[in-house]
Amino acid sequence: VNKKIIVAVDGPAGAGKSTISKKIAEVLKLEYIDTGAMYRALTLKVINKGINPNDVKSILEIMEDTTIEFINNHVYLDGIKVDEEIRKNIVTNHVSEISKIAEVRKKMVDMQRKLSESNNVIMDGRDIGTVVLPHANYKFFITASVEERARRRYKELLEKGEKDITYDQILIEIKKRDEIDSTREIAPLKKSPDAHLIDTTNKTIDECVNEIIEIIERG
Ligand code: CDP
Ligand code: CDP
Repeated sequence: VNKKIIVAVDGPAGAGKSTISKKIAEVLKLEYIDTGAMYRALTLKVINKGINPNDVKSILEIMEDTTIEFINNHVYLDGIKVDEEIRKNIVTNHVSEISKIAEVRKKMVDMQRKLSESNNVIMDGRDIGTVVLPHANYKFFITASVEERARRRYKELLEKGEKDITYDQILIEIKKRDEIDSTREIAPLKKSPDAHLIDTTNKTIDECVNEIIEIIERG
């Protein structure tokens, strides 16, 4: 009987976590779970309902009847596919405020642990190796310089046609999100001592994927 494989991936925005995790999921036949997409989906709902991101009570109320699902690698919020909408800059710029709320995190962590029970999984986020799946068989902390991460995000936004934005703005926004995510009281972004550090600044996606697969296959 093969033992269950659980891979935890953490790191800051634009480091390459989701791109790399998806490829590893394909090669090793794991289920990929994007926890950032879950926080983004809730943030989208908060924005669409016109709720102030500081209004914790209202956020917890709407969370009660919110469903977030992954079906065939697409994200569904209350039954509606929201892959594109959750990547919009307005969501990106509010997600960290909502993600630092203790009760929000508690519910998300419960959902994420349940999602990891049935399959072999690779899960990415900020607190996967430290809080959500501390017993993961393999942990990786994927990072890159903040300038490189901002360049990557800027390029993506230009490709999506979001033209009213500059590289400098993206750099400021990423730094702000890094700061909120790594200094919050609950489950801050930090490298688990037992995680392998992968710096993607000067590496291609394939180089990163191969480096990680080698570590996993070495056992
Ligand atoms: O894709 P990107 O790196 O920009 O961010 P993401 O992984 O989609 O995560 C969006 C935001 O959700 C992060 O900046 C965190 O504020 C929050 N998040 C979190 O708090 N914990 C997680 N496990 C995943 C995301
Ligand atoms: O999930 P996370 O926010 O950590 O990053 P991502 O969305 O997977 O990657 C951000 C961008 O960096 C994507 O456009 C990737 O194609 C790119 N990337 C890269 O150019 N070189 C790498 N070694 C890793 C990612």
